[in-house]
Amino acid sequence: LNPAVERVRRANALVAFFLSLFYLSYTVLEELKPGYLIGNVAKDLGIEKEQISARKPRVDMEGNEKPYCGINEKNGDLFVSGRIDREEHCGEKPTCVLKFDVLLENPLELHRLSLQIQDINDNAPIFPKDVIRLEIRESAVKGARYRINAAHDADLGQNAVQSYILQENVNFVFNIQTTNAGNKYGELVLNKELDREEQQELKLLLTAVDGGSPQRSGTVVIHVTVLDANDNAPVFTESVYTASLQENSPLNTPVIRVSASDADEGINGEITYEFSRLSEKSKKLFSLNEKTGEIVVTGDIDYEEGSKYELMVEAKDSYGLSSESKLIIQITDVNDNAPIIIVKSLSSSIPENAPPGTEVGIINVQDRDSERNRQVRCYVESNAPFKLVPSIKNYYSVVSTGQLDRELVSDYNISIFATDEGSPPLSSSKSVHLSVADINDNPPVFEEQSYSAYVSENNQAGSTLCRVSARDPDWRQNGTVIYSLLAAEVNGAPVSSYVSVNGDTGLIHAVRSFDYEQLRSFQVQVMARDNGSPPLSSNVSVSVFIWDVNDNSPQILYPAPEGSSFMTELVPKAAHGGSLVSKVIAVDADSGQNAWLSYHIVKSTDPGLFTIGLHSGEIRTQRDISQSDSMKQNLIVAVKDNGQPSLSATCAMYLLISDNLAEVPELKEISYEEKNSKLTSYLIIALVCVSTFFLTFIIIILGVRFCRRRKPRLLFDGAVAIPSGYLPPNYADVDGTGTLRSAYNYDAYLTTGSRTSDFKFVSSYNDNTLPADQTLRKSPTDFLEAFDDSSDASQVGCFNRFTLLFTFILF
Ligand SMILES: *[C@@H]1O[C@H](CO)[C@@H](O)[C@H](O)[C@H]1NC(C)=O
Ligand SMILES: *[C@@H]1O[C@H](CO)[C@@H](O)[C@H](O)[C@H]1NC(C)=O
Ligand SMILES: *[C@@H]1O[C@H](CO)[C@@H](O)[C@H](O)[C@H]1NC(C)=O
Repeated sequence: LNPAVERVRRANALVAFFLSLFYLSYTVLEELKPGYLIGNVAKDLGIEKEQISARKPRVDMEGNEKPYCGINEKNGDLFVSGRIDREEHCGEKPTCVLKFDVLLENPLELHRLSLQIQDINDNAPIFPKDVIRLEIRESAVKGARYRINAAHDADLGQNAVQSYILQENVNFVFNIQTTNAGNKYGELVLNKELDREEQQELKLLLTAVDGGSPQRSGTVVIHVTVLDANDNAPVFTESVYTASLQENSPLNTPVIRVSASDADEGINGEITYEFSRLSEKSKKLFSLNEKTGEIVVTGDIDYEEGSKYELMVEAKDSYGLSSESKLIIQITDVNDNAPIIIVKSLSSSIPENAPPGTEVGIINVQDRDSERNRQVRCYVESNAPFKLVPSIKNYYSVVSTGQLDRELVSDYNISIFATDEGSPPLSSSKSVHLSVADINDNPPVFEEQSYSAYVSENNQAGSTLCRVSARDPDWRQNGTVIYSLLAAEVNGAPVSSYVSVNGDTGLIHAVRSFDYEQLRSFQVQVMARDNGSPPLSSNVSVSVFIWDVNDNSPQILYPAPEGSSFMTELVPKAAHGGSLVSKVIAVDADSGQNAWLSYHIVKSTDPGLFTIGLHSGEIRTQRDISQSDSMKQNLIVAVKDNGQPSLSATCAMYLLISDNLAEVPELKEISYEEKNSKLTSYLIIALVCVSTFFLTFIIIILGVRFCRRRKPRLLFDGAVAIPSGYLPPNYADVDGTGTLRSAYNYDAYLTTGSRTSDFKFVSSYNDNTLPADQTLRKSPTDFLEAFDDSSDASQVGCFNRFTLLFTFILF
């Protein structure tokens, strides 16, 4: 028998003894098979065997509780009628007593019956759940504890849970803890940190064993889910990102996309991007999409402002773990800047005699682009005589390349071009102004090689002869022309007494009245000089030709002027028709037509007898002389020149047809006879005239002497020459006006005498510059010796006139 059962029996007996007075008590094990005999109630109640059936013992259980015990009515045995589970009836209570009543009839009796149930190991430890789910953050530190609900064993004492066994693992150990109240519970203790990234979950089998016999156990699976902790920072795919970007890229141009990954999951792995430490400049240029990591352009990218940007990009997860990466953005240059030409210095003018290579300015060329885009070629527009000479760095000197001439080009606009080597190239230009400064390098140049002026004689003093003009292309005073006469002599007199030149206008004026018979032409040198320093000049010769005016009457040399009684030609009586009888010789101080003389017989005693050669002046008989012809023949011959109007002179020729000179004394008579009546009145008039003239002569002699003292060099006084009207024209006609003419007359007489034509001596007349003293010596009147202190032509002219008067008086 089971010792336990024995013990229960003994206890039952003892208890029954004490309680028999009050109630019945039994002790049984739980889970006995139905029919198991617990005790005998009748016997314990002292009821006779025979009476038992009459008393009808029975169990009365309260309520509708299913009866687990029964009493045999015949013998009063108490037996197990149903399952008695201690855990069901009493649970955790350490002692389990079931109470019910036993009912007896005849007489009716009610007895209380208590049934003590004793535990057996009929229950295995049971965990409340099959699976214990634990979520443990990977960040949990070693020693962290996680309480595990204990396994439950319905049994008591030894039969209850005695120990736990945890499946072998590295991370956890299992501990039993006792509370202050003495309760026990288990706990998982973290022995080694978890890493979700290594192992996301683990399953551990926990076994609880009791101390019963046979031993029972229960298991539970502890399912540990390792929760993520934010233990991983985001990691960029590159430690340094590089990107290149063209300048001037439009807005929103993607630059690069940075990317980072986070080993954590969920919210711990959610990455946002942002710039860390961003300069103000970069802030305006780039933006970063915080979700995608894409960087786009948000501003004007200008290479010239910055060619390289270094940005720090940060990737951050939700809980603030972050990492950084560097982003280098290289900006590539675009040729977007044209070269700039800066004039650093520039002379405003360059002298025209500056040698080639003279520097006139310095320019500087800049291009803000880089590399090829910055390479600048510089040049000057080709048609200007300037070039650029590269100097240090981007400096160029502007130098002249050729000889300049202000008179050709007086200023230059030098166009400077600069082109860079970008593609497409950009260029710019600048124009600088440079003027050429004058140098007095051009002498005045006369418009003509030489000038000729023609003037009629007897011109007015001060009349304009001609105008010379010279040009000087130089600037201002270097080109201002001033005219002047070069000092020289004409006929021994300074040229300034003949002409003057207006310094400004170049007009040449006569200073005096010219006399063709004295001076037919002369040359003066006019100088044109500029006002430069030193001045330049050039000379030109001006020939002044004096035109003849018919201002001289023919002068009859032979026969002697009227009044001379000795001029009588003898004509032989036997002269045939056409024979030369005599010749009228006349000259004219003028020249050309004005001196081309023609001879006419104005009046004759016998008009048919004599004829005169129109131009030769030869008097010939027209027919044979006959006896009937008068012995004395008188001819009045007029000599005319061919001028306009023509001037003339007349003379009388007395011819005597005779072979015998003895008839000569009658000559006077004849003439007197013929003109007796007329002559008488002529003589009276003449006498009056003579006496008048004589007085006049005396006065004039005195006057001349007086005037010689006053005007010893009358002609040379320049402009105030003696006007032609000063002397009576007739005087001038007869005896000429001056020494030169007289000299000529003498000469012409000889020429005519040798029977050459009038025109021949005209040509010889061109040689007009006979010296005055020679002229004087050739003068026909030795009278002049008396006045030898003078070479003054006018005075000589005066004396000729007086000679004439004297002759007249004698006559
Ligand atoms: C130079 O330029 C100025 C102003 O543009 C103009 O007045 C002048 O005539 C030009 N000179 C030449 C020689 O082209
Ligand atoms: C004239 O020429 C001289 C040099 O020959 C020069 O020095 C001067 O400046 C010039 N005058 C003017 C007004 O150009
Ligand atoms: C002009 O003549 C003057 C005087 O004879 C002389 O000094 C000067 O050199 C001449 N000028 C020229 C250009 O011939």
